[in-house]
Amino acid sequence: MSEPMILTEEIGRVGIITLNRPKALNALSGALIDELLAALRSYNKNPDIGAIVLRGNGKAFCAGADIKEQKELDFVGAYNTDYLKNLNDGIFAIHKPIIGAINGYALGGGCELAMMCDILYAGKSAVFGQPEIKLGTIPGAGGTQRLIRAIGKSKAMHMILTGDTIKADEAEAAGLVAKIFDDQETVKEAIETAQKIASFSAPVIAMAKEAVNEAEELGLKSGLHFESRLYHSSFGLADHSEGFGAFLQKRQPEWAHK
Ligand code: CAA
Repeated sequence: MSEPMILTEEIGRVGIITLNRPKALNALSGALIDELLAALRSYNKNPDIGAIVLRGNGKAFCAGADIKEQKELDFVGAYNTDYLKNLNDGIFAIHKPIIGAINGYALGGGCELAMMCDILYAGKSAVFGQPEIKLGTIPGAGGTQRLIRAIGKSKAMHMILTGDTIKADEAEAAGLVAKIFDDQETVKEAIETAQKIASFSAPVIAMAKEAVNEAEELGLKSGLHFESRLYHSSFGLADHSEGFGAFLQKRQPEWAHK
């Protein structure tokens, strides 16, 4: 029987998903994407899981779209199967926070997959890039849209038009990743942060994630309106009374909704 392309493990309220195609540097084959989305959806509906960590097995996080598979795809094949759009759309529908723990290469679709995560932690070996230009194509899983939002136009254009890569320290300075660590610490730190996030009220965490993500979709006025609506909705939750009450009674809150 062949190895699963995705491994899952639960530690406390954190679901850990490992891309497990190390011989192909965890390249995004159709089969891997299907397994990844299935694992994410399963954690998304599991009430015992509050946050997700995504990592790669071996020396890469992910080296991008599977070059052998993409080589065989023509326009009709890509269009009819929503090639890689299915990955973007699938991850967009996950309400629980996803922390990307990135060691090694995050190239092409791998850099784009990293940017689909909500928080990025990177090991010092991490290398980010959009090398599609060297293959005669352009980033196709969000790179042209998300990179500019993460690091600004000039740096994003530079990476996309030259195919040049950036290392972890530059990625941190540019705002692409939240924190960098020695490689052996990256996953551990990501899990610790995920545990912290998973200890808060689950619906409030989902609201906060949705509101922040909407900032990329909406103008300021509409975004502030959207935020107010979610903020006021949170007043209706038992967790709102509990959180405010616990503060005033100088005790730890006990969330009704985990
Ligand atoms: N797809 C399929 N297989 C890949 C792959 C990919 N994206 N990247 C690496 N591999 C395979 C290699 O073919 C090789 O397989 P074999 O052992 O069978 O020959 C194996 O992984 C190990 O790779 P290397 O021997 O090349 O390892 P290296 O350490 O010498 O180099 C690397 C590492 C610099 C990351 C190099 O593998 C590389 O440049 N990979 C391609 C990166 C890339 O161009 N990604 C973009 C893909 S297109 C895309 O992602 C489109 C999009 O927008 C979604």
